[in-house]
Amino acid sequence: MENYKITTLNDFIILKQKDFTYAKGELSSLLHHIGTAAKMVNKKINKAGLVDIIGSAGEVNVHGENQQKLDVYADEVFIGSLLASGECCGVATEENENEISFSDTFASKGKYIVCIDPLDGSSNIDFNVSVGTIFSIYRRITQRGEKVRNEDFLQNGSKQVAAGYIIYGSSTMLVYSTGNGVNGFTLDPSIGEFCLSHPDIRTPENGSIYSVNEGNYVHFPEGIKKYIKYCQEIDKDSGRPYTSRYIGSLVSDFHRNLLKGGIFLYPENKTAPQGKLRLVYECNPIAFIASQAGGMASDGKRSLLEITPSSLHQRSPFYVGSKGMVKKVEEFLDFYNR
Ligand code: AHG
Ligand code: MN
Ligand code: MN
Repeated sequence: MENYKITTLNDFIILKQKDFTYAKGELSSLLHHIGTAAKMVNKKINKAGLVDIIGSAGEVNVHGENQQKLDVYADEVFIGSLLASGECCGVATEENENEISFSDTFASKGKYIVCIDPLDGSSNIDFNVSVGTIFSIYRRITQRGEKVRNEDFLQNGSKQVAAGYIIYGSSTMLVYSTGNGVNGFTLDPSIGEFCLSHPDIRTPENGSIYSVNEGNYVHFPEGIKKYIKYCQEIDKDSGRPYTSRYIGSLVSDFHRNLLKGGIFLYPENKTAPQGKLRLVYECNPIAFIASQAGGMASDGKRSLLEITPSSLHQRSPFYVGSKGMVKKVEEFLDFYNR
């Protein structure tokens, strides 16, 4: 007999709300709105190639990068949906230089702020490669009803109330955590619902995959060059050589390693002296998920979640995944003096 017992994202959110004694459903509503925006973006991405949605929007974003039409679309959809939730008083996104303060009467009283990369890996979109959305939720520091300020968004990653990502891949998935483990939901397109498919995700302590853009090898710090060689060495007892897998879409590279065990590395290099990935809305949410699943994230020296950001679009070297592997990278960096 077919199994009709499904748990939708919304069922799950409500179920979990009971774990927080004083919860009033504000976070639940916010997560629900993120889920709805994800479905809208997913629909558009699925049509890429059929409608006039692929390619450049003809604008350059705050980082001097070419904005894709879908970057702009996803940015608008997520901002609109967060505003509509009434629980979010402001957002910071990859596509906007400064934080956006919602002046709407309801929204300005919202308890939460959201940092989001609405579409990550968007340069892959023209070639049917998976892309993602990465988000992170914090309690505001400023008083409810006030205009949000920079400091609301520059909290260290350990203060995240919730974080997650959406993968628009061979299937679309939403993975999130509210600090109580990690759960994954797969979108069932026939009913238009995210359904619980990966309950309580735990990442292996060690894995056999390393993910890095080896095209930058000659520019890497000595410790990373040596670590890559270590990954390639034969050592049957520890399962080496490891396998190399790199898509160039953070969410997909991370998600595979989360489930199978592995490490994702984006070191600083000569052309990107602070690395490429943005601390606030790319690294921190992914780091939160990793640590909630039993893994860890580092900038090479310290836990990524302990860094206090000094600006919204600040970059950081990023090492994330299985605990044993991230610790090993830290050892190599330390030994070879970075
Ligand atoms: P963007 O935010 O501009 O879409 O960049 C994508 C990111 C991330 O998804 C990926 O891990 C990384 O860039 C890939 O960078 P390289 O092309 O330098 O490997
Ligand atoms: Mn990005
Ligand atoms: Mn982006």
